[in-house]
Amino acid sequence: MGLCYQAMSKTSGDFWRTSAEAWTRRVDEGDANRDLLLDPVMLGLLGDVTGSRILDLGCGEGRFCRMLTERHAVPVGIDPTPELIAEAAARDPNGRYLLGEAEQLEFEDGCFDTVVSYLTLCDIADYKAAISECFRVLKPGGRLLLANINSVFGGSAIRGWLWSEEGERLHVPVDHVTFESGARIEWAGIHIVNFHRSTSDYLTTLLDAGFQLTNYLEPVPTPEAISLHPGLADGLRVPNFVVMAWVKPDTSN
Ligand SMILES: C[S@@+](CC[C@H](N)C(=O)[O-])C[C@H]1O[C@@H](n2cnc3c(N)ncnc32)[C@H](O)[C@@H]1O
Repeated sequence: MGLCYQAMSKTSGDFWRTSAEAWTRRVDEGDANRDLLLDPVMLGLLGDVTGSRILDLGCGEGRFCRMLTERHAVPVGIDPTPELIAEAAARDPNGRYLLGEAEQLEFEDGCFDTVVSYLTLCDIADYKAAISECFRVLKPGGRLLLANINSVFGGSAIRGWLWSEEGERLHVPVDHVTFESGARIEWAGIHIVNFHRSTSDYLTTLLDAGFQLTNYLEPVPTPEAISLHPGLADGLRVPNFVVMAWVKPDTSN
């Protein structure tokens, strides 16, 4: 994965438009991180979603919305990338997919049981506005489920493992952890911006918005997942992702 570290003035969405086709191709090829690592954790935390009104922030081509529909939830997917929203609607003609940005949601207060952000916080330019909007559109007692890139990596100019000359896996370089940054990343024809924020920035923002934390996980691959996709074993030493579940307190009782 190539990465060039620089300050970002464009929003993530500008880059997603030109990467939409490559992204959709990549989803269709299958992504072990989602299929084998994150899906079981996300679906496990969601539990029985029958009849639940779920907002999928940054739904992309609609993969997770379709999984929620299969589980009898009532998902709405929003995404600012027109090409991805069109693809999501084509793949699921009975589904509800809308153009929109997480920072300014076109929904009434308290109209969702659950909001899901599946690897999108790192794409959202104004994460504070997005978190505040999540709080607003959730009903009291509603849940926010977040999967994000683990902030332990920082906004390093180098991503991924360093190897010795003998081919031994050494360590993951970590730098620029404490401050917010944006960086261009490129892989498989996808050229986008990823934003880094520290764990404390995310947690403080979520707490300040009024959320209460119920789960904080750094998922590691199971032996079965590693046998199906050996590359996942990297995540035993350095977890690539965090998954958090938060609740909007119900103060009416
Ligand atoms: C890494 S993809 C994840 C897509 C989907 N959640 C999944 O897991 O397959 C990130 C998505 O975030 C969307 N995105 C970028 N900026 C956004 C914003 N401000 N609000 C909501 N979504 C955004 C992109 O268009 C893209 O579809």
